[in-house]
Amino acid sequence: MTFSNIMDSNSYQGDSSQAGVGPLIAARARMLGPASRLFYDRPVHLVRGQGSHLFDADGASFLDAYNNVASVGHGHPHVVDAVSQQLATLNTHTRYLHGGILDYSERLLASMPAEIDQVMYACTGSEANDLALRVAEMYTGASGVIVTADAYHGNTTAVTAISPALGAATTLGKNVRTVPAPDSYRIPRAELAARFAADVAGAVDDLRGAGFGVSALVADTIFSSDGIYPDPSVLKPAVDVVRAAGGVFIADEVQPGFARTGESMWGFTRHHVIPELITMGKPMGNGLPVAAMAARSDVLKPFAVGVPYFNTFAGNAVSMAAAAAVLDVIEGERLLLNAASVGAALRRDLAHVAAGHPRIGDIRGAGLYIGVEVVADPDTKTPDRAGARWLVNALRERRVLLSVCGAAGHVLKIRPPLVFSRSDVDWFCTEFAAVLGDF
Ligand SMILES: Cc1ncc(COP(=O)(O)O)c(C=O)c1O
Repeated sequence: MTFSNIMDSNSYQGDSSQAGVGPLIAARARMLGPASRLFYDRPVHLVRGQGSHLFDADGASFLDAYNNVASVGHGHPHVVDAVSQQLATLNTHTRYLHGGILDYSERLLASMPAEIDQVMYACTGSEANDLALRVAEMYTGASGVIVTADAYHGNTTAVTAISPALGAATTLGKNVRTVPAPDSYRIPRAELAARFAADVAGAVDDLRGAGFGVSALVADTIFSSDGIYPDPSVLKPAVDVVRAAGGVFIADEVQPGFARTGESMWGFTRHHVIPELITMGKPMGNGLPVAAMAARSDVLKPFAVGVPYFNTFAGNAVSMAAAAAVLDVIEGERLLLNAASVGAALRRDLAHVAAGHPRIGDIRGAGLYIGVEVVADPDTKTPDRAGARWLVNALRERRVLLSVCGAAGHVLKIRPPLVFSRSDVDWFCTEFAAVLGDF
């Protein structure tokens, strides 16, 4: 089996003879096949969720430190009510007039810089990125794309070709160049932005030399799958380089968007850069498949006037009701503030717990997106994939759920629902301290 950082670092690799869940694992393998990976050495069978807590078939409660999709909380009653009411009233596609999509679009665009004045809907982050690539290519007349070395942007043919995190199973496009992520743990902070911009400039030259020209730099604005690098200085100089070469910046906000970073609704705001195109998904509908691409209308125009776009489920009335309810909750429960304060408390308490554990090399993040770097040796900073995997499984045994990211699958990825509370932080740190005791 080929190895993928994003699919396999923490995937279940065992047999199906596990007590309780064995028959489910076997049935899944038989009917879904081997491409659908499960998490953990002992997969979890969840039947219910509430807020940032999940419950298994035996009623045992788990702390959810991983799921950014149910970002305003599992089973949030406001979202449930909005979706149920709309589903019972009307659910149709975007070829009829409907106020819901307009009300939502107005709110969404109001959360972005004024330059971003139009939005098109999709069902998944992959579709949104796929669309953005097409739009960028028509606007720039070029096809070259630059991404980071362990980026993940989705699963259509076009976006797997810009998703090196999928590993050897995927061939990057001939028109795609990768640059190292801005690794703030290994590169001195003072050099980080200049080094990233220089790498992007190298990729620009290479794409031009190969005749592709430069269409876009596509970047997840917190570099999630690369290992979570929150330094806000790095993107602007690189985007300037791309623009000077005629390309555009596509901000992939599928992970950092919708208040995750605690500083602003959007990750790109932290970098003081206004993208030409912005893609979003995952947390947008709190579990319903809602995604979008927002754009500067002049950038969108060459595509929009030439290519009719219809996406059966995208922007339907129920999806828009879910997305509007998510915005209501983010605003009403002040989740941006919560992400900032609880995220800071979690980083501080984690640092306290990890003090004196040399194999915890770095704790970094923004808001409720936190990476914990696991290393074999703090002096060499050698990534410790096996150690990270051990910690994730040890925490799962103590009913705390998280996963990993990073080039070697060696960075613990802590990315809970935005409603994570101070008592959840205590719960997390108590269990983290316990597993570190055996690490
Ligand atoms: C940064 C990023 N972009 C795009 C995607 C693709 O989104 P989806 O799985 O909804 O297609 C993902 C999914 O993990 C992602 O993390």
